[in-house]
Amino acid sequence: MKVLIATEKPFAAAAVEGIRKELEEGGHEVVLLEKYTDSQALLAAVANADAMIVRSDKITAEVLHAAKQLKIVVRAGAGYDNVDCEEAKKQNVVVENTPGQNSNAVAELVFGLLVYTVRNFYNGKAGSELKGKKLGILAFGNVGRNVARIAKGFGMETFAYDEYCPADVIEAAGVHALTSRDELFKQCDIVSLHIPATPETKQSINYQVVNQLGKGGILINTARKEIINEPDLLRLMAEREDLKYITDIKPDADAEFCKFEGRYFSTPKKMGAQTAEANTNAGIAAAQQINAFFKEGCTKFQVNK
Ligand code: 3PG
Repeated sequence: MKVLIATEKPFAAAAVEGIRKELEEGGHEVVLLEKYTDSQALLAAVANADAMIVRSDKITAEVLHAAKQLKIVVRAGAGYDNVDCEEAKKQNVVVENTPGQNSNAVAELVFGLLVYTVRNFYNGKAGSELKGKKLGILAFGNVGRNVARIAKGFGMETFAYDEYCPADVIEAAGVHALTSRDELFKQCDIVSLHIPATPETKQSINYQVVNQLGKGGILINTARKEIINEPDLLRLMAEREDLKYITDIKPDADAEFCKFEGRYFSTPKKMGAQTAEANTNAGIAAAQQINAFFKEGCTKFQVNK
């Protein structure tokens, strides 16, 4: 089978080697399309692909229509909001993700960004420490759990709210389980977002929600830009000079957020999962899932059933 690795944001070279080796051992031919700048390149490359490994690459209905032989797409990562899962289902294309494989990398970045923030972006003036601060984790999935683990090393007090995760699972990890998102924002100094982008969560982090953060509150987003109501957050930051917004996903209104100097920071390109380890873990898991799909019909990680 022909397996296309289509990554606008490439994997680390060592990860590509590992993926290639895994797939070739499974008897497949590997085609690499990296750093493509227009969708035509992707449309041409998918034409004879039987399987694909992608990252945040947009796998739209148009791409799926052009991929006449495609049987499986594996998103090497957690969030699959970049793949038109309904259209894939109509075309009998299996969509899978590789949950948990890059979550430590994202969690570590949360703390890289937080230290940078509380030390005033290293401007030389006295900042503050994370020790003793209350950290709210919105959604206790793979990333949220890693965030909680690392937060303990910093001596932070950890809280979480997750409507799908039982409170006893959260408490067993040594984290205070709260009964609502509102409570999380009210009780914590810092809130870290780890919810996926779904019809329910899009724009859900709005004026009312964020305004519950206490004085000097920090909102950190390493999840998706779509979950933020940007006009609301801009209005709130204009009204409240104490609030900070730190993100790994450049907002559409980046230029307007940049006006809040010292209170806003965005990485230039999403960096959360951009480590050699995360690329290798997620990429090799994707390759193994493709091998298992063609060898045994395994669809364990299918997300478009
Ligand atoms: C994910 O959903 O796994 C992360 O957001 C990583 O995305 P990336 O592969 O585009 O870096």
